[in-house]
Amino acid sequence: MTTKEEISARMDFLRKEIRFHNYRYYALDAPLIGDLEYDALLRELMDLEKANPDLVTADSPTQRVGFPPLEKFEPFRHEIPMLSLENAMNEGEVIEFERRVRRVLGEHAEIDYVAEPKMDGLAVEILYENGFLVGAGTRGDGLVGEDVTPNVKTIRGIPWNLHFSGERLPPPSRLAARGEVFMDRDEFESLNASRQDADEPLFSNPRNAAAGSLRQLDSSITASRPLKAYFYGVGLIDGADFSTQWELLQQLREWGLPVNPLSRKCRTIQEALSHFNHLASRRDSLPYDIDGVVIKVNRIDWQRHLGEKSRSPRWAVAYKFSPQEAQSRVLDIIVQVGRTGALTPVAVLEPVPVGGVTVQRATLHNEDEVRRKDIRVGDQVKVRRAGDVIPEVIEAVTGVRTGSERVFSMPANCPSCGGEVVRLPNESVHRCLNRSCPAQIKGAIWHFAGRGAMNIDGLGKKIISLLVDKELLKSVADLYRLKKEDLENLPGFAEKSAENLIAAIAGSRNPSLSDFLYALGIYHVGSHVAELLACHFGSLDAIRKATEDELKQIPGVGEKVAFSVRSYFSHPANRELVENLIKSGIHIETSRPGRLETVDDTWNGKTVVFTGTLASMTRQEAGAKVTARGARVTESVSSRTDMVIAGKDPGSKRDKAVKLGVPVLTEEEFLNRLKGNV
Ligand code: IVH
Repeated sequence: MTTKEEISARMDFLRKEIRFHNYRYYALDAPLIGDLEYDALLRELMDLEKANPDLVTADSPTQRVGFPPLEKFEPFRHEIPMLSLENAMNEGEVIEFERRVRRVLGEHAEIDYVAEPKMDGLAVEILYENGFLVGAGTRGDGLVGEDVTPNVKTIRGIPWNLHFSGERLPPPSRLAARGEVFMDRDEFESLNASRQDADEPLFSNPRNAAAGSLRQLDSSITASRPLKAYFYGVGLIDGADFSTQWELLQQLREWGLPVNPLSRKCRTIQEALSHFNHLASRRDSLPYDIDGVVIKVNRIDWQRHLGEKSRSPRWAVAYKFSPQEAQSRVLDIIVQVGRTGALTPVAVLEPVPVGGVTVQRATLHNEDEVRRKDIRVGDQVKVRRAGDVIPEVIEAVTGVRTGSERVFSMPANCPSCGGEVVRLPNESVHRCLNRSCPAQIKGAIWHFAGRGAMNIDGLGKKIISLLVDKELLKSVADLYRLKKEDLENLPGFAEKSAENLIAAIAGSRNPSLSDFLYALGIYHVGSHVAELLACHFGSLDAIRKATEDELKQIPGVGEKVAFSVRSYFSHPANRELVENLIKSGIHIETSRPGRLETVDDTWNGKTVVFTGTLASMTRQEAGAKVTARGARVTESVSSRTDMVIAGKDPGSKRDKAVKLGVPVLTEEEFLNRLKGNV
């Protein structure tokens, strides 16, 4: 490429191309190219921009990294107020809503509805002028919110320019699109995990994490947070008109704004109720939190006719799920000792149903969290659970305190072994330093035997506890010395069960290098990092000898991990443990080449969707395994999906895959492919 014009034309082409693929990926959820091709386009544009800074445009897709920090948020006025919704807590209240609608529209009107997931995030309005994003604000009091334009511009799924294919309705001259900004649950958990590591206060739920991330004066912080958005309506709109809510949603998607694919057009209120039931049953398996279903009268002329009350429209109702939050009383605060010696305060609660499960214990994370939230024994507290996350105490209801509540403090001695408890500088956790502490030994064995580690079936917490208390196990290496006779006479064991356990332990003797590394329970070495280390070094010996600098060379391995791995293998007790394990007959399979180094056609560049429940590992763990091998995991099935892995109760994703001719693997086939046996 020689002339400036040619370079400029190429950059223009790349910008358009990237925008188009963003639209396919975020709005239509139907990417036409894989990550590698997309990255190549972005990389080429970035290289050209670096070499030609004068040709960088303000709207280039490379510019989503953040903008100069603000002093404060400016007010953002909504020309049309952002209303809230009336809630319905049961079917009767939804039927009552429909009755009110009928009173206005007539008994015999054929009223259809749109039932949309009620996203549990925070509402935003985004203003587009002639298709260009010119402003964005939070809801605030409905009339005036905060101007968060730079922050919103860092969210990848929100287009800076509305898409126009030339066939459909062009973007209107002015459009205030309304939607919800949110964070996926797994992203919220990893954000919190890294905040805990960095000793920063934790977010109490994905909604707070999304709100905290969006309301940053420094938008580069927002840019680093994995925010998403779904759009569900409009405020002001000049130059376009819709006859139905359904048409509006389709058009928003056409313009490139992500719209929740789980919204449904319903011919009757009964259909809307059954969609509610369907979503309620799928709620825990969705990647994000929803707190109900918004049911809207579909026809917009009827919406206008119904009008609104002071704060909510008469044409919509929010049918809320039974709450994932509940109130209970703290009967006690106990302290649990984990495998790393970390002491975690846990609230013992008066049993309370939360989202269909009875909760009796909830984590309080660490002493600082207890202080910050000022949770006392005897307090009435709000408790929350979401998906399979450990329930947690959100806050105390301080208004009802009687004065008899007891303030908690960390014990000076370990509740398991009585050993000294210390809080190391720069850590938020207290730790028991006694390496022979039974609670730590139990925790370490539990981790060692668990899924994604040595996978020893049938070695549950109770049995481990019994074996440690009987001093049959002092470390994980003792597992491989256990004999049938050791177990037979223990309570709960018979000849057959003793035999089964011994066989399961023996069957775990040939782990992969990454599973073995993960099983050791080295701080900061989760299954993904273990995979990276195994792929890079290829043998346990090489990892044992690696210096901190060598470890840090691996993309994805930072200072903390490098330090932790090095310290683990320099400690004589750990070296001895690993030696003992190998002496006791553990043979690490290293015949497989480093997976990240070699191009593994089974996974590399493939788009994979998991659905249903896997028996051998969580979906997250499975995702980490295939991503480490170069695959991309997506949520929904399209013709671009290379394979669907279906666990138990797979649901509609499996059906869609079959319809589209996308290969569907059982868990067993998946595990075989992972092992490279296919
Ligand atoms: S419609 C006039 N649709 O719920 C209509 N709202 O209590 C107003 N929300 O702050 C909103 N998902 O942020 C609508 N599909 C959806 C929604 C939704 C979440 C939020 C919205 C608003 C709150 C209303």
